[in-house]
Amino acid sequence: MVQQLQTSESPPLRIALAGLGTVGAGMIRLLDTNADLVRARAGRPIQIVAVSARDRTKDRGVDLGRFAWESDMTALAARGDIDVVVELVGGSEGPALDLARKTIASAKGLVTANKAMIAHHGMELAREAEAAGTALKFEAAVAGGIPVVKGLREGTAANAIERIYGILNGTSNYILSTMEATGASFDATLADAQGKGYAEADPTFDIEGIDAAHKLSILAGIAFGARIDFDSVDCEGIARVRAADIAQADKLGYVIRLIGMADVECGEDGTPQLLQRVKPCLVPKGHPLAHVTGATNAVVAEGNFSGRLLFQGAGAGEGPTASAVVADLIDIARGETSAPFSVPVGALKPMAAATSGHRLGRTYLRFTVTDRPGVLAEITAAMRDAGVSIESLIQEGKIAEGGEVLVAMVAHEGPERNVAHALKLLESSPSLTAPPLVMQIIAG
Ligand code: NAP
Ligand code: HSE
Repeated sequence: MVQQLQTSESPPLRIALAGLGTVGAGMIRLLDTNADLVRARAGRPIQIVAVSARDRTKDRGVDLGRFAWESDMTALAARGDIDVVVELVGGSEGPALDLARKTIASAKGLVTANKAMIAHHGMELAREAEAAGTALKFEAAVAGGIPVVKGLREGTAANAIERIYGILNGTSNYILSTMEATGASFDATLADAQGKGYAEADPTFDIEGIDAAHKLSILAGIAFGARIDFDSVDCEGIARVRAADIAQADKLGYVIRLIGMADVECGEDGTPQLLQRVKPCLVPKGHPLAHVTGATNAVVAEGNFSGRLLFQGAGAGEGPTASAVVADLIDIARGETSAPFSVPVGALKPMAAATSGHRLGRTYLRFTVTDRPGVLAEITAAMRDAGVSIESLIQEGKIAEGGEVLVAMVAHEGPERNVAHALKLLESSPSLTAPPLVMQIIAG
């Protein structure tokens, strides 16, 4: 009997692949290169049957002649010779969503790397997948090659997660850590990132924090058993971080990183509220996230029994992302079709968004002001009137032609609403040449 189990192989898991770009072509290469070990671990071959993209003539560096071609990618969902559709096209709406819905409606498994679609439509897709008894998997949607979705769904399943935070966008991290190393401006470093292929021609989602917010909302849903609520992510990108902020942070013992952070806190009315925030933050140089440079991602999960866990690795790129996609396929080949968000959608809690005003924290504030008498007094008076206690203050010399001066300060731990009040008091001040930049300081 044992002998029979070892020699008889289950039929292949038959795949349709939509999208033959960076990740799609990478997935084909991975399945070709690692065919034997994938087959052994999946218990059966994983076999691509049909593919789709926009341009059939494009050379993608892989042999596509062995696969059927569908010019309309949604037709993949209707094929009778397919078990799972892999969606590697992208976009929260449009053809990718249409394909996802049709795939699940036809009771086929769906694997996707599309964080935008999962952040916006993950609840609907998961509910439909659960009703159809089919798999929905999206490991590659969060932090590329890092198995953090699996880590949370499986590895920390026995824990209450107290907090989850990390570096979820490689492009932003490349820009910030390169500015740190070179002293160059944001604009020059963004141009460098685009030249090296890290940042897209339109880098908006990366530098405005939206890509990280997509990923954070997915992680928060799994970590806290909450319904995904992308619209409640308090999101700010890195475009306003100046080389001077990085230099000030350095003098104070910090680096600047774009941090996505989620936790459940007790609201002022006593009910649990979900805080989801993506913002540039000051990270102490001794913190593990301070050492994450370049396009790397890292996620910290704090479980009530596991303690602090750090997941770190390549958050993007052909190989790492394909690795996550194929790991999902291996799970499906093994028969794993459990609830996509760990618990059934009906059991996920709708959680109010945290208002965060009473949240305590230390804060870095940077003002750019005209260099004239009384400006510093005006700023410090607003701090005093709002109950913000200043821990340290640095005034730099002129930072631009025209006499603009930089004033940076660190406020002692206090309620975030006090800082917001101080900024309100300064809102119409003619002394400020630009809106202030406020960054939370992450505890060590
Ligand atoms: P990509 O290189 O731009 O490839 C997209 C593919 O989709 C292309 O093959 C394109 O066809 C095809 N496509 C676009 N619109 C289509 C349409 N209307 N009908 C049929 N095919 C269409 O994108 P990618 O970088 O591989 O990313 C794919 C997904 O993975 C996205 O959701 C992305 O967010 C996610 N992701 C990517 C990375 C990464 O490192 N790149 C990491 C994590 C997650 P043509 O080639 O013919 O134009
Ligand atoms: N654009 C993303 C990043 C990669 O820079 O991290 C895909 O998730």
